[in-house]
Amino acid sequence: MTRQPPELDSDELVPDAPLTTKEGWRRFVDHQPGPPDTPDAAALLALPARRRADLDDARRDYHGELPMVSTPTIRQVLTTGRLLIQLNRRQISARRGLILSGASGTGKTTALTQLGRTHDRAVRKRHPGQAGRHRLPVVYVTVPPAATPRMLAVEFARFFGLDFGRRANLPDIVNAVCSVAARTHVELVLVDELHNLDLTTRSGAEVSDQLKYFAERLPATFAYAGIEVEVQGLFAGVRGRQIAGRFTLVNSAAFPYGTDEQRTDWRSLVATMESMLRLHKHEPGTLVEQADYLYQRTGGMIGSLSQLIRGAAVLAVGEDEQITRDLLDLVPVDYAATRTTPQRRPRTITASNEASA
Ligand SMILES: Nc1ncnc2c1ncn2[C@@H]1O[C@H](COP(=O)(O)OP(=O)(O)O)[C@@H](O)[C@H]1O
Ligand SMILES: [Mg+2]
Repeated sequence: MTRQPPELDSDELVPDAPLTTKEGWRRFVDHQPGPPDTPDAAALLALPARRRADLDDARRDYHGELPMVSTPTIRQVLTTGRLLIQLNRRQISARRGLILSGASGTGKTTALTQLGRTHDRAVRKRHPGQAGRHRLPVVYVTVPPAATPRMLAVEFARFFGLDFGRRANLPDIVNAVCSVAARTHVELVLVDELHNLDLTTRSGAEVSDQLKYFAERLPATFAYAGIEVEVQGLFAGVRGRQIAGRFTLVNSAAFPYGTDEQRTDWRSLVATMESMLRLHKHEPGTLVEQADYLYQRTGGMIGSLSQLIRGAAVLAVGEDEQITRDLLDLVPVDYAATRTTPQRRPRTITASNEASA
């Protein structure tokens, strides 16, 4: 989860509220990370040491987060999602939804929340001031591990800040959620970590039914994200086929690196990230020169690439002020990417691509 600068937002917001609460979601939607003040070398020298240290801290924070890059997955989720919201508005039943599926670290949560953020901001623009104050156009929840229908309903309730004692029964919680959702004009429901729902177990099937019930009762578009949900049996069986028939599947996968065109796409992703760096001595273009190396380290996973570049940048602040190969060597990346390192020419098509074809 992204760190938030302390000066953000009003006092009514709970600090560190998770994204799965309306306060945390609001904070995420309103937060616009921008590059920090980066004076040139001469101006920097003229500053008192204390001020320089503050600026360095701000740059560490900035590089630890870095703005989002628009990727093909994000563009597809935005286009499809916004179209579905539009089409669903006039539908009283059989609304269509979206499922974003792919390996861990391929940017699913990022794309899903970006869709929500974009929609939330669009609605607020249409209903400025008082008119929009009580609107909650977007809900974001995650499916808890080993969820029961009640646990899922509680997740929705928690987003709205509805508190239920242990004894509240499922229909009460569901009714309260639906009535608040109607009052606050919920239009888009984002459900993340869908892979926690195992349709081969009884409770998994019940949670799926609960989700379907919410989808029928709430006049909203549902967008789901999870790890390789199509191979997890989500679309199998009667229930699965019912889900599949109403959903557009978007795949998120590692960037491929087989053809010249694919290598160009990867280089341009690296170049975009490089252009966001605010390091005093970083020579533009030197990171793109490391594109092959970066691919080897990350296996084309945007999560690993982001970790590597952000990590190196944070280390460079106040030190070398540039990202070099030696520095990149120092930054660890997660296991999923490390595993692909020995492959010199990674496969173009990943398992998840094949499954969707
Ligand atoms: N489009 C993007 N631009 C920049 N960073 C991204 C992008 N997509 C993902 N990331 C980074 O990659 C990491 C993993 O992304 P995430 O969306 O959590 O993946 P998933 O949900 O598929 O596991 C996060 O740290 C995120 O900041
Ligand atoms: Mg995720």
